Amino acid sequence: MPIYVTRKEHFNAGHRLFNPAYSEERNREVFGKCSNPGGHGHNYVLEVTVAGEADPETGYVFDLKELGALIRKEIVEDVDHRNLNTDVDWLRGTIPTAENLADAFWRRLEAHLPSGVLWSVRVIETDKNWAERRRDAS
Ligand code: NI
Repeated sequence: MPIYVTRKEHFNAGHRLFNPAYSEERNREVFGKCSNPGGHGHNYVLEVTVAGEADPETGYVFDLKELGALIRKEIVEDVDHRNLNTDVDWLRGTIPTAENLADAFWRRLEAHLPSGVLWSVRVIETDKNWAERRRDAS
């Protein structure tokens, strides 16, 4: 049975939830105060879980120092203290919900990890709201 190991990182960023195809009124209906034109910020927490067997020599499934460095290089350095609507090339055209961030972060990490190792990427926006992309069970 696999062991699941998680690394946590933090970043602070601003965003505004709105769909440019909607009217201002429709954006307010769908996104509420999250669509206020000036945007707002969050102290995001990012939890990345890898899964596998522990290596008999090291006892590690994956070196979490290495995973932390990868998360910082591929994600945190690009998004920290940025406006997620305008400042990050690889998020351009994406409505920066926690759902879409989890999906975008997953794709960036998966490309740099051994096949099948990445298990989940959770983006925690507030104490009450978070979104997670997980590997399919299939
Ligand atoms: Ni928000």
